[in-house]
Amino acid sequence: MDRDPRASPAAQPVNGDLPRGRNKRPPRGSIDVADLPRTRRAGEIPMKRTMIVAGTLLLGAGAVMAQQEIAVQQDNLMRSIAKNQYGVLQKMSKGDIPFDKAAADQAIAAIEADVAKIAKIFEINPKQDVVNATYGSSPKVWQNKADFDSKIPPVQKAIADVKGKITDNASLKAAYTSINDRCNDCHETYRVKLK
Ligand code: HEC
Repeated sequence: MDRDPRASPAAQPVNGDLPRGRNKRPPRGSIDVADLPRTRRAGEIPMKRTMIVAGTLLLGAGAVMAQQEIAVQQDNLMRSIAKNQYGVLQKMSKGDIPFDKAAADQAIAAIEADVAKIAKIFEINPKQDVVNATYGSSPKVWQNKADFDSKIPPVQKAIADVKGKITDNASLKAAYTSINDRCNDCHETYRVKLK
């Protein structure tokens, strides 16, 4: 029998419900030591859980950063193309900057090199847009990647057709337009305006 024979009869039913070994009432004013480890353990669980949650968030943040990096790479490739197509060829054809055959040839060569990278750079769906971007990719790019990729050779053909043939503003303007029409063939299906 582990029941305290000195316990008052009134307290007995309560003590009698407690697990074995814990049914001795502590002296008045003392701390029930049996409660201490339990309290400490109870404190450890939320701490561990917090660490697991923090770890999971870090992993999640890493994945989000990698995806954002892919979206940025894709956007940067288009911006690089645009720097030459609009910043050089279009500006020159409009007379905003003076005609310069060497600069035009260089711009076309740079566009050609960048366009060759589109299929590969757009291989992975980042599933997010570049933060604050004006344009983003339609999910259709990855639903129909083969069709997306099929929009690239026509741009390359337009470039090949004008390469080395720019002699004056008129031929420059024609070159700009013929290339740009093929860029738009892809954009009208696969590029979305975000703002
Ligand atoms: C095979 C498809 C495809 C071709 C070809 C293509 N683009 Fe794009 N372009 C996209 C997609 C998809 C986006 C939207 C995604 C992004 O901006 O990252 C885009 C975005 C752009 C943007 C917006 C960038 C920004 O966020 O400000 C410009 C400018 C651009 N393209 C220029 C061009 C030019 C110029 C050409 C032709 C020389 C061209 N693109 C050819 C698919 C294409």
